[in-house]
Amino acid sequence: MAKISVDDLNLFYGDFQALKNISLNIEEKKVTALIGPSGCGKSTFLRTLNRMNDLISGVKITGDLKLEEQEIYQKDVDVVSLRRRVGMVFQKPNPFPKSIYENVAYGPRRYGIKNKLQLDSIVEKSLKKAALWDEVKDRLNKSALGLSGGQQQRLCIARALAMEPEVLLMDEPTSALDPIATAKIEELIVELKNEYTIVIVTHSMQQAARISDETAFFLMGELVEADKTQKIFTTPRDQRTEDYVTGRFG
Ligand SMILES: Nc1ncnc2c1ncn2[C@@H]1O[C@H](COP(=O)(O)OP(=O)(O)OP(=O)(O)O)[C@@H](O)[C@H]1O
Ligand SMILES: [Mg+2]
Repeated sequence: MAKISVDDLNLFYGDFQALKNISLNIEEKKVTALIGPSGCGKSTFLRTLNRMNDLISGVKITGDLKLEEQEIYQKDVDVVSLRRRVGMVFQKPNPFPKSIYENVAYGPRRYGIKNKLQLDSIVEKSLKKAALWDEVKDRLNKSALGLSGGQQQRLCIARALAMEPEVLLMDEPTSALDPIATAKIEELIVELKNEYTIVIVTHSMQQAARISDETAFFLMGELVEADKTQKIFTTPRDQRTEDYVTGRFG
């Protein structure tokens, strides 16, 4: 079932068209990988899904995007609650300069949860889901900036999960991490798809092949091909996809 459906999406930065006639269904509780060379529009596409591009001036978007029944670009959409349903994790871990506890409690607190026991329970649950709890349970009040890069990234995932999102967008979440920290995040993503719909941008073919169910290949603002990951990596329909996944591109 499609959690998000995108139909004929076009996006312009001023006069420059960065996305061209993109149509794609993002399946519920699956991992969808977005791949393609630098500048092809992966991050731009990812940001259309929770309207992060709204923050950039001069952006024009046409097309039809739906989160289940909800029109993402309808005028009266509450963008804050949309971003609550569609959370995001960025390339560089970006914890707040606050304690580990406060990083996770921050969002729920802003949504009006004041009760200490309730916050404690959200923090614990989110850190457990992000596979970080055991490493930090004895230092919850220490600064998040004292964590390793990989731990910081899992903290950012915990922070996103604390908002109880339905969809998690991840833009190259492991590109700043070493192989061991990367493996942990990959394991975590596979675990999280039992509960969440995940869209991940990656430059690593191996990563896409390891963790994603569906893969979409972008090239110069176009979606060349989207299909089951297995199919994209073994018998893609388009020659350009084959060239890219086999490293013959460019
Ligand atoms: N804020 C912006 N204003 C103008 N052009 C932009 C802006 N952001 C991105 N672009 C352009 O849109 C195109 C797509 O960029 P985007 O960042 O989505 O690519 P990407 O596939 O994520 O690349 P990378 O793999 O390097 O992260 C590029 O040509 C880029 O220069
Ligand atoms: Mg990008």
